[in-house]
Amino acid sequence: MHRYPFTNSLWRQHDRTKPYEQLKQSVSTEIAVIGAGIAGLVCAFELQRRGKQVVLLEALEIGHGTTGHTTAKCSVQHGTIYSHLIRTFGEEVAKLYYTFNQESLTYLQDQHDAGFDMDFEIKDSYLYSTQKSTELEDELDAYRRIGVDGGDATTELNTLLPFPVKQGLVIRNQAQFHPVNYLHELADRFVQSGGVIYEQTRALEISKGPRPIITTSTGRRVQANQVVVASHYPFNDLKGLYVSKFTVERSYIVACEMEEAPPEGMFLSVDEPSRSFRDYHEDGKTYLLVGGEGHLSGQVTDTRSRYDVLEAFAQQTFHASRASFRWSSQDLITLDRLPYVGQMFQREPDIWVATGFLKWGMTNGIAAGRLLADLLTGTENRYARFISPLRSAVKPHDVRSFVKTNVDTVTQFVKGKTEETGTVDALQLDEGGLVQLEGKKVGVYRDLENQCHIVSPTCTHLGCTVKWNNAERTWDCPCHGSRFDSLGNVLEGPATKPLSYEARDDL
Ligand code: FES
Repeated sequence: MHRYPFTNSLWRQHDRTKPYEQLKQSVSTEIAVIGAGIAGLVCAFELQRRGKQVVLLEALEIGHGTTGHTTAKCSVQHGTIYSHLIRTFGEEVAKLYYTFNQESLTYLQDQHDAGFDMDFEIKDSYLYSTQKSTELEDELDAYRRIGVDGGDATTELNTLLPFPVKQGLVIRNQAQFHPVNYLHELADRFVQSGGVIYEQTRALEISKGPRPIITTSTGRRVQANQVVVASHYPFNDLKGLYVSKFTVERSYIVACEMEEAPPEGMFLSVDEPSRSFRDYHEDGKTYLLVGGEGHLSGQVTDTRSRYDVLEAFAQQTFHASRASFRWSSQDLITLDRLPYVGQMFQREPDIWVATGFLKWGMTNGIAAGRLLADLLTGTENRYARFISPLRSAVKPHDVRSFVKTNVDTVTQFVKGKTEETGTVDALQLDEGGLVQLEGKKVGVYRDLENQCHIVSPTCTHLGCTVKWNNAERTWDCPCHGSRFDSLGNVLEGPATKPLSYEARDDL
């Protein structure tokens, strides 16, 4: 049979020789950071550098999460964010968001100059439309109003791209890099300066009150003066204060080898469907990375076709080869399109969070890590208020989005419980789905050796029904984006507990 390739991020293709140990005993520290993605590692690295004693806990391994599955554009051109922020909050907030992210670029450039190995390259960043776009006109106006170093680039784009562009914008001197190499650089330097990392150490809960205690899935405890939650989706949101503030989106990326040189720059369209592309060079090969085909997480089973569409776009538009790598990533979109970075709950001054980076986790993540390091060391930071999770300015648009997010979750909950199921006999090799088995609704994946992997389809977060994702071979939850592998293990939160699992070879 045709075997669909397993997904694999280009950034994670080289195995690491030196994994960090799992936490095997309870420990006490000044600051504990949960999550070794870009926000968590920048925060931990900065705190350690400033003389704090920091322990970093990672549920799986460094680079396993969203940072290892991005296109790794480090740009402040976040779609049409500036016109949106001016409309919603005014120019001052739009300017703050711009400089908050722009400073991440300076930070990366400084680290590159200091010898960090991360394939850092300066590139211009382009936003375009193949149709006349009032959205881009408004964004151009926003650039002028807040002083973005960019402007109209319609003529330039028509020389760069092999198809006609009706309107386009550029922001000069942005960057692209290798995100996983960057994480390892930060990790190495963090450890060299006395920091401690534990991988394969999943935090399950955080106690309240002073000197919070983190309990891990293996029953170990980490007590700290301050705890930073940088686990992408905050797993410790037991009161559900955050679940209704996000939508979770999944998007897809393919990396195709190129004979010809790809267009010089980083590109994103505002058309539907949107396309994002950049180049990458390694071992004498040139790749074109193409991203797009996003949808609300957990609501699509046939995800293979999403990769096929991107691959076809790369081949037809740029004469690229077949995709050598395919991967996907999950983004948290906040109601007001600003991240949440700061004190997590009103009554818990020792628990901090960094989350909700939209699709722009590279600059927002670095900025968030730096901001938290300032807040935890009592350093003044002018960005602390505008993205505080405790911000109270609620706009009418937020309320509408809030209601919609909750209605969608309830709809998915009900739909999952009433959805029709198939039979286990109908599942072919390498297929998964929800079936009735011995009087119960279960999730089954029939692997290439004809063994059936059976999981409970009830998400361990808040009980929605998971859906099979046929490209990743995972069970994805449509409510808040938790993901589980075919054996029921948690790949991505907010769920922290696995789905119950059994293997059968008699079906
Ligand atoms: Fe919330 Fe599944 S992620 S119910």
